[in-house]
Amino acid sequence: MIYTTKFDASSPDVKFVKKMTDAYYEKNGKRPGVFIRTFGCQQNEADSERYMGMAVLMGYEKVETEEKASLILYNTCAVREHAELKALSITGQLKHLKAQNPDLKIGICGCMVAQEHRLNDIKNKYPYVDFLFGTGSHEKFPYYLAESMRKRKRVFYPDESYSIPENMPVRRESTFKGWISIMNGCNNFCTYCVVPYVRGRERSRCRENILAEVEELVKNGCKEITLLGQNVNSYGKGLYDDYGFADLLSDICKIKGDYWIRFMTSHPKDASHKLIDVIAENCGDDCQPKIVKQFHLPLQSGSDAILHKMNRHYGRKTYLSLIGYMKEKIPDIALSTDIIVGFPTETEEDFLDTLSMLEAVRYDAFFSFIYSIRRGTPAETMEQVPDAVKKERFSRLLETQNRISLEKNKEYVGKRERVLVEGRSKTDEKMLTGRNEKNRLVHFEGDDSLIGTFVNVKIITADTYCLTGELV
Ligand code: 5AD
Ligand code: SF4
Repeated sequence: MIYTTKFDASSPDVKFVKKMTDAYYEKNGKRPGVFIRTFGCQQNEADSERYMGMAVLMGYEKVETEEKASLILYNTCAVREHAELKALSITGQLKHLKAQNPDLKIGICGCMVAQEHRLNDIKNKYPYVDFLFGTGSHEKFPYYLAESMRKRKRVFYPDESYSIPENMPVRRESTFKGWISIMNGCNNFCTYCVVPYVRGRERSRCRENILAEVEELVKNGCKEITLLGQNVNSYGKGLYDDYGFADLLSDICKIKGDYWIRFMTSHPKDASHKLIDVIAENCGDDCQPKIVKQFHLPLQSGSDAILHKMNRHYGRKTYLSLIGYMKEKIPDIALSTDIIVGFPTETEEDFLDTLSMLEAVRYDAFFSFIYSIRRGTPAETMEQVPDAVKKERFSRLLETQNRISLEKNKEYVGKRERVLVEGRSKTDEKMLTGRNEKNRLVHFEGDDSLIGTFVNVKIITADTYCLTGELV
């Protein structure tokens, strides 16, 4: 069942936890710490900002390490096995913290524990984890936490229903970049993917609340807003008869201000010409706001046979015709994609079809993944490709895209780019780092005061993954 809920900031659960954190404050002279670690995609990042919002509302104070926390929450991912193993391994390291501090509360939530076998794994093998819950109703976090405190025993909440909550408190990581979740869940059932099983069916937030959230972010000086959903192109389905993602984008563009609008992710079968037209109308240099000239369109494979087995509902021809329309309407659009190598039954010929699509589209960037078996998905029982073959194809894929990315990055040399400054470079203290509207990473020397503002940078050199320049 899917239903809309309204978060209640004065519910008995919120009040109960607040009473406990107030008692901690009385005793220790400081608020108890909360530490949240996020695995996986931006949707999870956005959910974690809501968990942090709720935790702060209940009287916790954000801390930067597990060691300083009285409450630890891990928000997990299930899209590939690697993400799950990482989360389990880090969870294992919490054993000694719980031994030192038996009052420590440890919760695990998100996509990994929305799978019954993983929920049971943690239940049985990690006895120091206090509470578990999936993705279905994340506004119920205060209830889950309060229950584990009230009952003084471990509690487990497998998903039984799926909500789309409004009125959520949110503690954002950035003051100038904001995520807005516009829909959740997926109905597509690509045969390799676990998301429809762990995130439930598609459900959209109502447009008034999304528009109000954009307005508030803009009023507070936000410079980049990213609209999030497993398939943003399905926005509005089942909620409105005649209002979809293109209409929402168009309405957001009426909220004036100097900020960029991004969105992800789009399914090629649902990306409409109407959507591309709205982007084309609102991506000019004088547009404020400006929809960025960048489109992430996951291809997954360039082989028609594999796309069919993936249940993707498009082939090379329709995908290329969509790209053709984008390039016709927005000639300098930057494109990026997701590719999976080694999907079951993939032959060398299928793989060469994927390489040829990279050459045909000439993506600016891509995210590439080695196929990972997901329990309960149709592809689990298909004929698997040997690991060595997958790895070899993966490195050839990278080689091809790296060459194209470098060639495309070199086209920036000598040009002036508008960059949203994100912070100091992690590898070079002297340098600031930011991104242009096409999501290219740009490094340049500058003062901390520029962080969170737009600047113009003249590009001097180009590498595969970044551009370097100087302020103009
Ligand atoms: N194995 C590898 N990659 C996967 N993805 C989704 N499921 C799998 C899987 N089982 C990739 C897809 C998707 C991205 C978010 O993760 O490319 O677009
Ligand atoms: Fe997974 Fe396909 Fe849904 Fe994307 S569209 S979340 S790949 S099932």
